[in-house]
Amino acid sequence: MEALKPPEDAITPKMGRRRFIGWAMGIGGAVTAVLLSIPLVRFALYPIFGGSSGARWSGLGSIDQFTPNSDPTRKTIKVMQLAGWQEGMSEKAIYVTKGNRNGSLNGVEVLTAVCPHLGCDVQWAAGKGIFYCPCHGSRFAPDGKYLAGPAPRGMDTLPLRLSNGQLEVRYQYYRNLLPNKEIVT
Ligand code: FES
Repeated sequence: MEALKPPEDAITPKMGRRRFIGWAMGIGGAVTAVLLSIPLVRFALYPIFGGSSGARWSGLGSIDQFTPNSDPTRKTIKVMQLAGWQEGMSEKAIYVTKGNRNGSLNGVEVLTAVCPHLGCDVQWAAGKGIFYCPCHGSRFAPDGKYLAGPAPRGMDTLPLRLSNGQLEVRYQYYRNLLPNKEIVT
């Protein structure tokens, strides 16, 4: 049986068979590398280009349940999220806590659990009375202010509003690694 040959007209007089095969393999390898790298690049750039609808408010219940002396309360809210061309629901962790930073309402703040360093999930250490990040050890006060570690700023507050006595929050994404919080739109 005769081996498969490239079309005769694809081989110029100056291009021998070996050269043509080498050239074809090089092009094929480059195309494969580009295709394989697309998911990786999208994953790496997601914090920069990812986004949410930003228009939806999530109910957290009556503001009265969040007493000034209680520990931060972790909650999960559903957020509409755009990933490329697709839209879908995802769950996001937040903390309701006491505080008077920008974005607070009646002494209550809602913080995103996303670490402003590299995006790990920040945890509340009840015994120590601080937030800590298990990835690189950043620590934050109960109101989210920066205490220590590689995080460039404190935990980010989320927009809040009161609707008929109910606390509502709007989830947002913020850029990592910046000293000041900047919304990802
Ligand atoms: S991701 Fe939180 S300290 Fe690095």
